Amino acid sequence: MAKNIQTTYVCSECGAVSPRWLGRCPSCQAFNTMTEEIVTPAPAARKKSTSAVYSKAKPLAEIEYRTYGRTSSGITEFDTVIGGGIVKGSLILLGGDPGIGKSTILTQIAAVLSLNHKVLYFSAEESCSQVKMRAKRLGNKCDNLLLVNETCIDGLEAELDGVEFCVIDSIQAVYTDDLSSSAGSVGQVRECATKLMRIAKSRGITFFIIGHVTKEGALAGPKVLEHIMDTVLYFEGENQENYRILRSVKNRFGNVSEVGVFEMTDCGIKAVTDYSGIFLSESRGQEAGAVVTPAQTGNRCMNVEVQTLISKTTFGQPRRMSLGIDYNKLALLIAVLEKRCGVRLGSYDVYVNVMGGIRLNEPSADLAVCAALASSYFDIPIDKYTAAFGEVGLTGEVRAVSYAEKRVAECLKMGFKKVLVPAKNMKSMAKYLDKIDIVPVLYVGTMIKTLFKT
Ligand code: TYD
Ligand code: MG
Repeated sequence: MAKNIQTTYVCSECGAVSPRWLGRCPSCQAFNTMTEEIVTPAPAARKKSTSAVYSKAKPLAEIEYRTYGRTSSGITEFDTVIGGGIVKGSLILLGGDPGIGKSTILTQIAAVLSLNHKVLYFSAEESCSQVKMRAKRLGNKCDNLLLVNETCIDGLEAELDGVEFCVIDSIQAVYTDDLSSSAGSVGQVRECATKLMRIAKSRGITFFIIGHVTKEGALAGPKVLEHIMDTVLYFEGENQENYRILRSVKNRFGNVSEVGVFEMTDCGIKAVTDYSGIFLSESRGQEAGAVVTPAQTGNRCMNVEVQTLISKTTFGQPRRMSLGIDYNKLALLIAVLEKRCGVRLGSYDVYVNVMGGIRLNEPSADLAVCAALASSYFDIPIDKYTAAFGEVGLTGEVRAVSYAEKRVAECLKMGFKKVLVPAKNMKSMAKYLDKIDIVPVLYVGTMIKTLFKT
């Protein structure tokens, strides 16, 4: 062990310091919060020098402008999500549940990059032969891809001569000798990431770092790393379903609302280019409770189906459950329906699900959720070629949303016949009036009356 480095244990709640590990913080009494940290010796007091050069303020016009050189990963969807290609010397964190396909997608990208660049795959979780087996299964030609099977990252720097891209699989499995805590602890994860950042910035090497997210929080999740990273991506999706969604939550070099859709096949991850139909069910329109909404994610618009189910509460408090829609938003919309529209859901359990595992964070989905809930309540199906979008306020009024034209255009492209749009967005709808039936909606209550003739 390289040991002239000192470590201490710091409480992550209150910042109390202890020379040894304790199960309970003596200061704030919190359990299991002491994490190991390296003590950096305070620099000897600097002598004041008159010749010291300090940075001077400069006008923006005089500052040199550098465009970021971007390299394609070989997967267009991935490039789109990270803002148009991989930026040299950046740190990209790919988080996601175990088994979602993080190693698979990064092996594919490493294989493509290794055709023209020197790429190192630092595998702490799997042996070299396992990585090779996967690479073979993916069918990419990657004879030049360098593999290391190691868990200590202290020797990594020596392996990086001439390397341009490096994959670390995964940050929870690697450790540095400077800390005595085990791999995966908060201190180790943060220290290893800081080391990688130093290498990335000083040598211009791009790192792809895999991080697991566990529900129990047993391992240090990628959350502690987010501020060190340039780009943070999350790979999501139901394990049973083949679709995966790649979402960017932080990106110093691009838009964060961009979403990529992938499919897990038996020969790796494939980008889904025709994603228009995958968020819609086949039986749409036959049963009550489903409505389609054109959702804007990043630069793209896609039609997504919102499904709801209500059932009589048999015992105690009615249940509300939502997947893909914010829980508080759902509670708010239920209250609006109760108070303003006569849809009494007080004695019903309400379940809401957005198809395909996508998350609708934008307010434009409100109107579709209301329409779907009302459809469940009256048990009247909504025509499969009807879509709705609009933000719903607490007074029951429907507010205008952004990208209205683009949303209608998407519905038109998908063969929809009727779109319910906020009345305040009607100004921009002129060119679509003869192509598709556009219904302006001013209040949720009136929409429900027209849809269900109540
Ligand atoms: P993996 O990339 O190892 O997941 P992670 O690194 O995120 O933990 O992927 C694991 C799953 O993917 C595993 O259940 C097998 C499946 N898989 C395929 O379906 N097709 C493939 O070509 C590969 C390589 C894996
Ligand atoms: Mg893996």
